[in-house]
Amino acid sequence: MTDLHFGCVDDAALKAVERYVRERKPDLVICTGDISKDGLAVELNDACAWLRSLEAPVMLTPGNHDVPYFEMWGRLAFPWKRFEAASKGIHTEAWHTPQWSIVPVNTARAWQFRLNWAQGEISRGQTAIAAAELQKAAPGALRIVITHHPLDWPNDAPIKGITRGGARGLLRLIDAGAELFLSGHLHFAYARLIETKALSIISGTLSKRLRHEPCAFTVIRRPAPHIIEAEVLHVVQGVAQTAAKRQFLLNTPPQPGAPGAVTALPGNGLAPASVDLS
Ligand SMILES: [Fe+2]
Repeated sequence: MTDLHFGCVDDAALKAVERYVRERKPDLVICTGDISKDGLAVELNDACAWLRSLEAPVMLTPGNHDVPYFEMWGRLAFPWKRFEAASKGIHTEAWHTPQWSIVPVNTARAWQFRLNWAQGEISRGQTAIAAAELQKAAPGALRIVITHHPLDWPNDAPIKGITRGGARGLLRLIDAGAELFLSGHLHFAYARLIETKALSIISGTLSKRLRHEPCAFTVIRRPAPHIIEAEVLHVVQGVAQTAAKRQFLLNTPPQPGAPGAVTALPGNGLAPASVDLS
């Protein structure tokens, strides 16, 4: 899940997630940032209290809205202080188990040398640290990189932009063994194979800041070591409903005429028709 935006949450969507987690008991919940609207302490604290209340372990990385959004002094002097205080006790550092290695990279910036500070960046240093972290993965563990901003910003996304260093970082991290990239920011559900080596999944928002798609979250399963299943659930009138489900095959040479997806299960696909708001 991603982009909860406490301060303008969709309560019915959160209730649907709570119910899903309680009933389906996932191994883990991953949240890729923008847990608040304006980076206020009350928003961050409420968001983290809600994450802690879920009946599953939670892994969290911050987004661009999780700094003091409209407070220039706070942005410069203590950009991550409130987030770090609020998220105490929640996993925010690299996490290795026999089943998974999750490596978070903070792509959000308190300020940048460009007009739109909302966009993200992955530096060469961050990429090198993440690549080294991936080497600690247990044999057979799923190697996951989580960022707020997608490293492969799709050009049909409802907001235009680019994650600085994203393309370079993506390829470097795939070389280092990353198999799954999870992100948010776009309020747009999406899944795409990168060649046949890795899968990029962007999840939708659980807030009222909708961009032509309902509130959504994505369920990820691993039915076999090289198969990832992504199921997008839309929350409509408080009920979570499957919008699309697909399986993707990783790390195998592409078959003639097949782009790498082994099975396309019923559903309309993960990416909606292009919506250009520019
Ligand atoms: Fe964002």
